[in-house]
Amino acid sequence: MSDYLAQTQAMLAKHHREGEKFAETMKSGFERRFGEAFWAFWQQWIAPAYSASPQVLDLGAGPGMFVRAVAERTPGLRAYGLEVAPYMLAAQVPLPEGCRLIACDLHDPQLDLAPGSIDAALASVVLHEMKQPVRALQGLQRLLKPGGRLLLLDWVRAPLEVYIRAQTEEARVFDPSTEVHELDDLFIHFIEHNRFSREDLIYLLNQCGFAVIYSKVEREGRYATLVAERRA
Ligand SMILES: C[S@@+](CC[C@H](N)C(=O)[O-])C[C@H]1O[C@@H](n2cnc3c(N)ncnc32)[C@H](O)[C@@H]1O
Repeated sequence: MSDYLAQTQAMLAKHHREGEKFAETMKSGFERRFGEAFWAFWQQWIAPAYSASPQVLDLGAGPGMFVRAVAERTPGLRAYGLEVAPYMLAAQVPLPEGCRLIACDLHDPQLDLAPGSIDAALASVVLHEMKQPVRALQGLQRLLKPGGRLLLLDWVRAPLEVYIRAQTEEARVFDPSTEVHELDDLFIHFIEHNRFSREDLIYLLNQCGFAVIYSKVEREGRYATLVAERRA
């Protein structure tokens, strides 16, 4: 294993706190997070980019729940998930024929997929976990066909007060008897979850060859939904 890959995996293991448990949380919370509202949005904004035999890519696929679900919804669709954390790959769910999880560090993706072969992609709460998302977006831009679409969902920058109230008990944070390690952990996660603003994401996408055709920030300004299209 390269030092670079080992560093990525160590960084994620820290961010995910307990990897195996987090993989199970991704599975158990999937139906709630990817409910009817999600699929209606996907149908409206992303599915119109499908070709007759669609190919879909999931960046930071976790145990592959979305890969399975998106393939099950459209006969003949092939979906591929890119994932680097060993505990996510080990927790992989059974996937339909033609679909697979690919072990890959999105910081510098090297993939054997054909340029222009992907119709649509998802990046769900992954970019904020990365040191930089430039190579991931450039790599995706190459793999998408012109007009291919990306749905990007992620935490975005919000005031500390909003973050603390949403994440934990405010009184606990300012209680002098709270353990210093708990405080450290909360404030490190604050920085990690507050990496980019919506405008930063739009800038990055523009610079990497995409046009943003939809953007919305919800949950008190903490969570962004963007749709971007690969420019011709
Ligand atoms: C918060 S989880 C979200 C999983 C899934 N996208 C979902 O929404 O249910 C983020 C995922 O991205 C993966 N990830 C983060 N950085 C990555 C990288 N550099 N390369 C590949 N996967 C990465 C993590 O291991 C994790 O499985």
